[in-house]
Amino acid sequence: MKRRPIIAGNWKMFKTRDEALQFIYAVSNKLPSKDLVDSVVCAQFTVLRCLVKRQGENLRIGAQNMHYLDEGAYTGEVSAPMLKAIDVSYVIIGHSERRAMFNETDETVNKKLHKAFEYDLTPILCIGETLEEREKGITEKVLAKQLELDLKDLTKDQVKELVIAYEPIWAIGTGRTATSEVANDACGFIRSKIVEMYDEETAALVRIQYGGSVKTSNIDELMSMPEIDGALIGGASLKADDFIKLVESAVNNKAEKV
Ligand code: PGA
Repeated sequence: MKRRPIIAGNWKMFKTRDEALQFIYAVSNKLPSKDLVDSVVCAQFTVLRCLVKRQGENLRIGAQNMHYLDEGAYTGEVSAPMLKAIDVSYVIIGHSERRAMFNETDETVNKKLHKAFEYDLTPILCIGETLEEREKGITEKVLAKQLELDLKDLTKDQVKELVIAYEPIWAIGTGRTATSEVANDACGFIRSKIVEMYDEETAALVRIQYGGSVKTSNIDELMSMPEIDGALIGGASLKADDFIKLVESAVNNKAEKV
């Protein structure tokens, strides 16, 4: 089993250009080799180009959203070919904040995934249940439905390249992390659903991250779990020193498995 771990920072609506530059200079030359781990920073649109120019060997840059069409009269939107033209590598699709606050639906998520693959951008697809859904005991049902709708008509080869972030909504920005067992079980369920929808080989290759209040104090425990291949990290990814530690943890805990 060779799944390279992937640590992605999700900066959300934080960091001006100067702050982004400070970060990139602080991490440059300090991140582990890209042969051991994929290190990614997903930043807001206005700093993407300036980060891509300075990303260096071991860091890749991602966007946090995009439209599902190439171009058109969609005021305020940014498209996949626009991201590709500035050498962005990743794009977060379907983050729960976008689903909850910006009318993102499983249908638009699915269209965006198809478009991202068309332009050779690696999507990080976010799925996860609300607290109410977890308490009702329907977490797996919710995850299965999201996967069925979000991955509709994607090929095996595409899904092998996909990154899925399991982000329980109750754990995002709340300081309330899922225990490593709960996170591992959900990631394991997602993988078993990929077996059912595709096959064993595809499921063995798709990388599944956990996200939700990941920080330097809990990353080791999460990364030591077999089904968790990395993390999507909001708040704790904003500080350069912490970001480096988070990436190092993935390398240290996954080293024997890659
Ligand atoms: P958090 O955010 O790490 O600040 O909880 C995670 C995310 O929303 O991706």
